Amino acid sequence: MIQISPQEIESAANVLRARINFPLQVGIVLGSGLSDMAERAEKSVAVPYAAIPGFPQSTVEGHVGRFVGGFIEEASVLMMQGRVHYYEGYAMQQVSFGIRLMAALGVRTLILTNAAGAVNMGYKPGDFMLIQDHINFMSANPLIGKHHAEWGERFVDQSETYTGELLNRARGVGKALGIPLREGVYAGLTGPTYETPAEIRMLRTLGADACGMSTVPEAIVARQCGMRVLGISVITNMGAGIAAPLHHSEVVEIAEKRKIDFQNFLFGIIRSINAE
Ligand code: 6GU
Repeated sequence: MIQISPQEIESAANVLRARINFPLQVGIVLGSGLSDMAERAEKSVAVPYAAIPGFPQSTVEGHVGRFVGGFIEEASVLMMQGRVHYYEGYAMQQVSFGIRLMAALGVRTLILTNAAGAVNMGYKPGDFMLIQDHINFMSANPLIGKHHAEWGERFVDQSETYTGELLNRARGVGKALGIPLREGVYAGLTGPTYETPAEIRMLRTLGADACGMSTVPEAIVARQCGMRVLGISVITNMGAGIAAPLHHSEVVEIAEKRKIDFQNFLFGIIRSINAE
């Protein structure tokens, strides 16, 4: 089993520190079709994942692979343009490497974004969903393995994985900008297959509103590190058996169609966090 050590995180963090030499307030992981946001940062510095020792390389079409540090709405941000997924064959600890790295660089507030399929019949492609809670359906957990006390607790509480105070901020920003928001439960599955219609029905029975192939391991590690976490899904399609067959190109296309509203929403949230 591949495990990451605190020394590996430190070496990787040093490479980023050498390039990004300002204190970082907010970390943002940009999901499929949403990575353009990083181009809007001011005074930005980009560091490709390939330049970071030990960092897993993303292999998916529609996913870039670099950190971008810079300023948005006067707040200092560190963005991951493209993420690494479990279905690419990486270990859970590699999938969440970037989150530990952000924590090592001082990021205390994390915004996780993703493209997700709708499980809730009331949702429509293009909807934004604030993640209230998640169901880990990945049969794996990034905290399995050797416990390093400096990373946080062995047994991490998950009664408020997605920070209520950030949810409130996001609700307020949605209202102020006239962006309607859904709120629901995100089920994280391994992929890379999309679900069967029977699995979508199962997820609905179990209380999920949306499903995807990311976010859950990152949220778990972020909570162990004591970060505040906000999760936002862009619903790009209905789950299998509800509408048409699914294709990755459609996921990226819908996410890109919604990117202006999405970026405005994120800018508003960052402004609100910076004003606190
Ligand atoms: Cl329908 N399922 C999963 N697992 N991930 C998705 C999706 C569906 N749509 C976008 N991402």
